Amino acid sequence: MDKPKVVLGVSGGIAAYKACELLRRLTESGHDVRVVPTASALHFVGAATWSALSGHPVSTEVWDDVHEVPHVRIGQQADLVVVAPATADTLAKAAHGLADDLLTNTLLTARCPVVFAPAMHTEMWEHPATQENVATLRRRGAVVIEPAVGRLTGVDTGKGRLPEPAEIFEVCRRVLARGVTEPDLKGRHVVVSAGGTREPLDPVRFLGNRSSGKQGYALARTAAARGARVTLLAANTGLPDPAGVDVVQVGTAVQLREAVLKAVTDADAVVMAAAVADFRPETYATGKIKKKDGQDPDPIVLVRNPDILAEISTARARPGQVIVGFAAETDDVMANGRKKLERKGCDLLVVNEVGERKTFGSEENEAVVLGADGSETPVPHGPKEALAETVWDLVARRLG
Ligand SMILES: Cc1cc2nc3c(=O)[nH]c(=O)nc-3n(C[C@H](O)[C@H](O)[C@H](O)COP(=O)(O)O)c2cc1C
Repeated sequence: MDKPKVVLGVSGGIAAYKACELLRRLTESGHDVRVVPTASALHFVGAATWSALSGHPVSTEVWDDVHEVPHVRIGQQADLVVVAPATADTLAKAAHGLADDLLTNTLLTARCPVVFAPAMHTEMWEHPATQENVATLRRRGAVVIEPAVGRLTGVDTGKGRLPEPAEIFEVCRRVLARGVTEPDLKGRHVVVSAGGTREPLDPVRFLGNRSSGKQGYALARTAAARGARVTLLAANTGLPDPAGVDVVQVGTAVQLREAVLKAVTDADAVVMAAAVADFRPETYATGKIKKKDGQDPDPIVLVRNPDILAEISTARARPGQVIVGFAAETDDVMANGRKKLERKGCDLLVVNEVGERKTFGSEENEAVVLGADGSETPVPHGPKEALAETVWDLVARRLG
């Protein structure tokens, strides 16, 4: 089978170097990528880099290789065009149909899905001209990813940062797999917990678990891509905030419970992907616990943590709220999953097998989603985003 043809448009923003990482992800995952930079983009990253990494010639203008009519062919043959970073200038040109270089010509001739990943200073992003251009592009069916919040050029911070290449890659993968779909979670508020709680013993030590948070972040990103307002409750993940998602950082199970109870009041769906410690040390030593010569260490006494999933499932904050739990099991995976679904009272339970080298920290997952209605949806081994999509498909169906 031919490799999907992707055009990577790069415009002249400081984040152009991040597009090299996006290009690498696209080529390594089996896409044939043609890079079309603007002349400004080449001030930031040279043509040699784009050409060597993509294996294709690179040109900014319509006047090279004219016999191949590149200003028409590149767009016509593409399965996907992604512009990352998309400058304010390139967004404006695309919105108004200008065609004064190879990238803007390509945008006019492409009949495939188009994804823009804008990056610019906050003032440029918030300017009504840019906002109207973005609205125009979205109205015409383009996917415009919300910029992330964080460090911009120089010392400035704010909204306008290019989302991480991994995030842009996932949007591309999704659009290639599903096309530009109607945002079926638009108008919905979803809450996702991610990561693993840490229960402190003293100021330097804690009881924790191996959850990386990647599955929860994939759920948050995917829900945002499907139009939802997303609150992500992140427990000790160290991962960059997904663009367009409200992130609340928590540490312990008790803090997570507080954050969940606050966030769920107006939520349509809640997905509890975080690994919550069942127990916490009964006491917290305010100073570092020291070794005492010739003495055995004091035992650590544990007390139960609140069962957040059971609590929010039993006393739903809103009628019709859909609640999804996760069961990470090492033995008797399916039997334990079924028991857990019944015990917790949630609507769906994602059951997966975990272990030292399985699932935790990995980019991939494999699971069965059990429904309280008796349904079983197997999700084969694949990217964590694929599992996330299945979860939201099942949630969207239940939301009606
Ligand atoms: C150091 C530097 C960084 C820039 N970063 C951005 C940026 O992140 N986003 C943006 O919209 N414009 C940025 N610009 C301005 C664009 O390069 C300028 O608008 C240019 O005309 C864009 O051309 P293009 O859209 O054809 O690539 C930057 C300019 C300079 C000199």
